[in-house]
Amino acid sequence: MLTLPWHSLGEWFRQSNASTAFEIAHGDHIWGVAKRNASFNDSFNEAMVSDTSLVGKVFASACMDRFSGLRSVVDVAGGTGTLARAIAKALPQVQFTVFDLPHVVEGLTSEENGRIVFVSGDMFEYVPPADAILLTWTLHDWSDEDCVKILKRCKDAVPPKEKGGKVIIIDMVMTSRESEHFKSEETQLFFDMLLMVLTSGKERNEKEWSKIFTDAGYKEYKIVNALGLRSVIEVYY
Ligand SMILES: C[S@@+](CC[C@H](N)C(=O)[O-])C[C@H]1O[C@@H](n2cnc3c(N)ncnc32)[C@H](O)[C@@H]1O
Repeated sequence: MLTLPWHSLGEWFRQSNASTAFEIAHGDHIWGVAKRNASFNDSFNEAMVSDTSLVGKVFASACMDRFSGLRSVVDVAGGTGTLARAIAKALPQVQFTVFDLPHVVEGLTSEENGRIVFVSGDMFEYVPPADAILLTWTLHDWSDEDCVKILKRCKDAVPPKEKGGKVIIIDMVMTSRESEHFKSEETQLFFDMLLMVLTSGKERNEKEWSKIFTDAGYKEYKIVNALGLRSVIEVYY
């Protein structure tokens, strides 16, 4: 499923009407195929569990100070809850909501005595309110225009900075050789191409991130380089 679209790149470059090479190969965008094809949905969600189990462990050991003073967190597009589970244990005072599409969270029941709950919905329409929103390995799946829409929904859901509100993004910040944070150019470029083939997204450098934050109405951001090729970006308004 994920290798076939690479064979459609030539057709896509020659001005196909499809938005992605994935759509040429499979007739729908990746989340539409996941909704219709239970086996692909399960495999994709399991792949995310595997990836996020590692990232969650590092995040839970290095970044717990990011949650200081928070009482509620919504993990938007949080998959089947791997990151929420990884950090909930270290944060007994925080209520977590894992928010994702219906075919991802259906059948999942609350955990940790109700401290982790699963809610289905479309992040382009609504994001449940909380002190903070987590967006992990998600914005890179979307175009700049779509990221601005998602970040505006998140802004509606969290309080302003002076009241402790924030959006916490875990995603790649592309760096050049001159940067002190430069790492593995090949992996950065591979992910950028992978997202071009599978989704309408891309990897972004700091300037590109900064523009979408401003366009979505945020005033400030802070990048913490704590997770190897991935960064933690805190965004406030
Ligand atoms: C790359 S996965 C990341 C999952 C999780 N954050 C993680 O790191 O393991 C992207 C997620 O976005 C979800 N998603 C896609 N479109 C969505 C939408 N419109 N509303 C909510 N979630 C969506 C997918 O179902 C998928 O779980």
